[in-house]
Amino acid sequence: MEQDLAELHDEATALLTTITDAAELERFRIDFLGRNGRISAIMRRLPLVSKEDKPRLGKLANDTKRKVEQAYRSRQQELAAAAEVSSQPSPDLSLPGRQPVFGSLHPITRVMEEICTVFSSMGFSIAEGPDIEYDHYNFAALNIPEHHPARDMHDTFYINDSILLRTHTSPMQARIMEARQPPLRVIAPGKVYRCDSDITHTPMFHQVEGFLVDERVSFADLKGVLALFTRQVFKKDLPLRFRPSFFPFTEPSAEVDIACVICEGAGCRVCKRTGWLEILGSGMIDPEVFAMVGYDSERYSGFAFGLGVERIAMLKYGIDDIRLFYENDLRFLNQF
Ligand code: DAH
Repeated sequence: MEQDLAELHDEATALLTTITDAAELERFRIDFLGRNGRISAIMRRLPLVSKEDKPRLGKLANDTKRKVEQAYRSRQQELAAAAEVSSQPSPDLSLPGRQPVFGSLHPITRVMEEICTVFSSMGFSIAEGPDIEYDHYNFAALNIPEHHPARDMHDTFYINDSILLRTHTSPMQARIMEARQPPLRVIAPGKVYRCDSDITHTPMFHQVEGFLVDERVSFADLKGVLALFTRQVFKKDLPLRFRPSFFPFTEPSAEVDIACVICEGAGCRVCKRTGWLEILGSGMIDPEVFAMVGYDSERYSGFAFGLGVERIAMLKYGIDDIRLFYENDLRFLNQF
């Protein structure tokens, strides 16, 4: 009887692994575990065994029955789980995939990089300086001494008496010239800060400063460099206009206009019917600035210019409100 129970257990567990549907499983249950099943048949032989063997064989028979029942139930659960999976609709492999969302460079970053590429191709190196600047480099070293009226135009954020947020990238002229000797060809891109905010001003904006110092540098060189620059950035041969102006660190100074990118000079709303758009300030570096960095202005001359990146980006992309750049509205940013 002992052997019969062991064989029955082995046969039942082996058979269970081959069962794959509910009907087969039910047949198994009736065959092995049912009232007239094979385990019951063995158990019915118990009254015939000797008194001494009865407790042990009775327990063995009950254990075997329990084990087979357990194996039966776990197989039943496996089949139920498999049935649930297969009842789900299978994925449609012909469906198109979901487009991943790609980020893109901010329009200001793009224009900055483009400007840097154009000047790099003309042999300018790129230098970056601190946003938090000494009053000295921002003003004094650029021939803007204390109490000079030009300081009023800058709406400066002061940190203390001698430290401020730079109001322009021009301090890089003084920093680089102080540290290096001519010939120099450098551009300095970066953030600048002014306490000003409306549709054409944000408290933080970007400039690219450029300057070139060597022997016999003339205003004609400045003109040539800027003409090449505007042609490359705006992808059009737009006329340039140099308007006499004043900056303490250049003499003579000029503000540079390009023919309106929208109407090409005919006059429209963007250029306020003048046909021209101002894009940068420039001039020949003032001998006073050279003197402060110890350059001999009899031997060296140079030009400098400073351009507003937001301004160029607005003209390039036809954007009429500078604040759009900093509102982080995806409907705006996704267009770039
Ligand atoms: N730093 C001036 C500004 O922010 C712009 C400027 C004008 C820079 C003339 C120059 C320059 O280098 O020569 O208003």
